[in-house]
Amino acid sequence: MQRPAPIDIEMKFEGGNMITETDLKGKIIYANRLFMEMSGYSKDELIGQPHSLIRHPDMPKCCFRTMWETVKTGEAWEGYVKNLRKDGAYYWVVVTVTPKYNEEKELCGFIAVRKPPGEITLEEIKAKYQQMIESEACQREENIFIPEDFIANEEFIAVS
Ligand SMILES: Cc1cc2nc3c(=O)[nH]c(=O)nc-3n(C[C@H](O)[C@H](O)[C@H](O)COP(=O)(O)O)c2cc1C
Repeated sequence: MQRPAPIDIEMKFEGGNMITETDLKGKIIYANRLFMEMSGYSKDELIGQPHSLIRHPDMPKCCFRTMWETVKTGEAWEGYVKNLRKDGAYYWVVVTVTPKYNEEKELCGFIAVRKPPGEITLEEIKAKYQQMIESEACQREENIFIPEDFIANEEFIAVS
């Protein structure tokens, strides 16, 4: 499913628990009613989709990298996430992702519970994420303009 173009309209998450469950790869296998209401998607549209369906472009990539590294080891991860609704608007949540185990005690998926963010911390998070996004963009530019073999060469020259 195609992700919508973001629009600069916030839909405030006022309270309650927004819950989803995924398989090991992050494919949605369950979403509660509040999650459906906030995301703007129906159950049929959500089930079977990758959770990145609601990924907002303002989220730094490294947040999700850290999240996956953490939960795959069996630990819980908590963080501030800006999510993209089906209509292009956004909402902020604090999400806690915990691993799910089957009867054989094998990791079999993940559960995410979301609560509303604290307003004061959110302002700090927005500034921090903006810096992270800018630094990720710089890194991408460097990767484009400086080929790896050139960097290797430079190092070779420097130590020889
Ligand atoms: C249980 C669970 C819940 C998740 N919830 C969200 C979420 O609310 N928003 C989001 O953008 N990504 C969420 N993710 C992370 C996505 O799977 C994905 O890594 C992220 O959206 C980045 O997408 P990308 O790797 O395609 O850039 C969740 C993952 C899991 C396992």
